Amino acid sequence: MLIRTKKRNPESEITDPALFKKRRQIIKASAAAMVASLNLPVIPSAQAASRVKIAKFTRGSPYSLQQSPTDYEDITRYNNFYEFGTGKEDPAHNAQSFKTRPWTIRIEGEVEKPAVVGIEDLISGQALEERVYRLRCVEAWSMVIPWIGFPLASLLRRARPTSRARYVQFTTLYDPEQMPGQRIPTLQWPYVEGLRIDEAMHPLTILALGLYGELLPNQNGAPLRLVIPWKYGFKSIKSIVKIRLTEQMPPTSWNLAAPNEYGFYANVNPDVSHPRWSQKRERVIGGGLFNPKRETELFNGYTDEVGKMYRDMDLRRFF
Ligand code: MTE
Repeated sequence: MLIRTKKRNPESEITDPALFKKRRQIIKASAAAMVASLNLPVIPSAQAASRVKIAKFTRGSPYSLQQSPTDYEDITRYNNFYEFGTGKEDPAHNAQSFKTRPWTIRIEGEVEKPAVVGIEDLISGQALEERVYRLRCVEAWSMVIPWIGFPLASLLRRARPTSRARYVQFTTLYDPEQMPGQRIPTLQWPYVEGLRIDEAMHPLTILALGLYGELLPNQNGAPLRLVIPWKYGFKSIKSIVKIRLTEQMPPTSWNLAAPNEYGFYANVNPDVSHPRWSQKRERVIGGGLFNPKRETELFNGYTDEVGKMYRDMDLRRFF
């Protein structure tokens, strides 16, 4: 078991908690006053009526960051979910009536026991735990999210991968009636993503079905999404309906859209710039008007845990 002790903020980044809280209250109050005076439409609090607590999960995973999570409001109103629009606030608006029940996930391909698993069985049948991870988006911003989920490996093992299974492909629901973004060819639909089998089986890789102790809000990928904390956020595919184990490297949505900008691996790496911007630093979402930035860390800080999987690879070529 790995004990994560070195993930704390360096002294220079730490603000006195009382001062921090006061500062945030002032920012929030002035922002609210500003919005009120401008008479702008206000987004309803994310699914306030339908927020559902998750009954049983353990806190305090050794893999968790020892850091305060980003505010719930920021996590649920600043999203990338192109099926519901390309604006950051579009998913919170447009995914409100998205139907996530009934929902099944098909596991197929190079497995001895293909299966169709119902979401309720996953919620009640897996040992759920909280994992506080930083989501580092390829757009050079980040937030810290207290996910509730379980290791992807535990689900894959149940299906018994064959010796030919070298990759895992994930597919999001395709339903243009419910997902207005799929009526526009911003990406090839459905959204697909992939991992190498060792990445998929790594204990840090989880399937999340909740955050902040509640079932996932629709805009964050309900009812089930992938979270791989050492890779850019676009690998963390949302609203998964299919998991296929394959012999060949599967296509992925962003790589299909712009292969020179988005590689298959997408490991967080401050030394490999995106062709249009640097990846050295990241904007901290929810940091208020001060717009703080932090230094991006190789593998998002998980070099000790995952670096060996890429030891013999040229990370500039396999970005
Ligand atoms: N999954 C699907 N199906 N569609 C998407 O557009 N966006 C990705 C990823 N998963 C995306 C997706 C990107 S670019 C990021 S940064 C994360 O989701 C954002 O997750 P969040 O909105 O929960 O912060």
